[in-house]
Amino acid sequence: MKHLHMTLAAISIILFTYRFALTLMSSAQLDKKWLKISPHIIDTFLLLLGVGLAVKLAINPIEYLWLAEKIIAIVFYIFTGYYTLKLARNRTMQVIGYLGAMGWIMLVVRIATTKQTVFL
Ligand code: HEM
Repeated sequence: MKHLHMTLAAISIILFTYRFALTLMSSAQLDKKWLKISPHIIDTFLLLLGVGLAVKLAINPIEYLWLAEKIIAIVFYIFTGYYTLKLARNRTMQVIGYLGAMGWIMLVVRIATTKQTVFL
């Protein structure tokens, strides 16, 4: 279960980076059906597996602050990702959005692997 969670996390980051590159190039590939649908399916399973792992291992975010911080960081990652691909109006803002999203995902992976909070 954990390995599937980690594999989906890697695919999710790769797909986001690919869509970011296509956005920078204003590529028509972005309209491909598989590229519009697959990130949602992968991200849904990634998050569901995360919740499943937390339930199975009896790790709750009130007792385990690292999980609370991880969830907060994921919310910021999702928002900065959405900003990068949908809201940013020019290349500079898209690049800034992407770097911001990568910063948040680095925090998520660091918290996930160390199980230590960074800010809380
Ligand atoms: C962008 C989303 C996510 C990423 C990139 C991510 C990343 C990871 C990684 C890399 C691990 C393996 C850590 C290790 O043991 O080396 C992991 C484990 C785990 N994740 Fe996630 N995760 C995400 C979302 C979530 C969510 C939403 C939850 C729960 C609400 C969650 C709960 C867990 C739990 C409980 C573990 C297992 C911890 C353990 O081994 O004790 N994850 N995650």
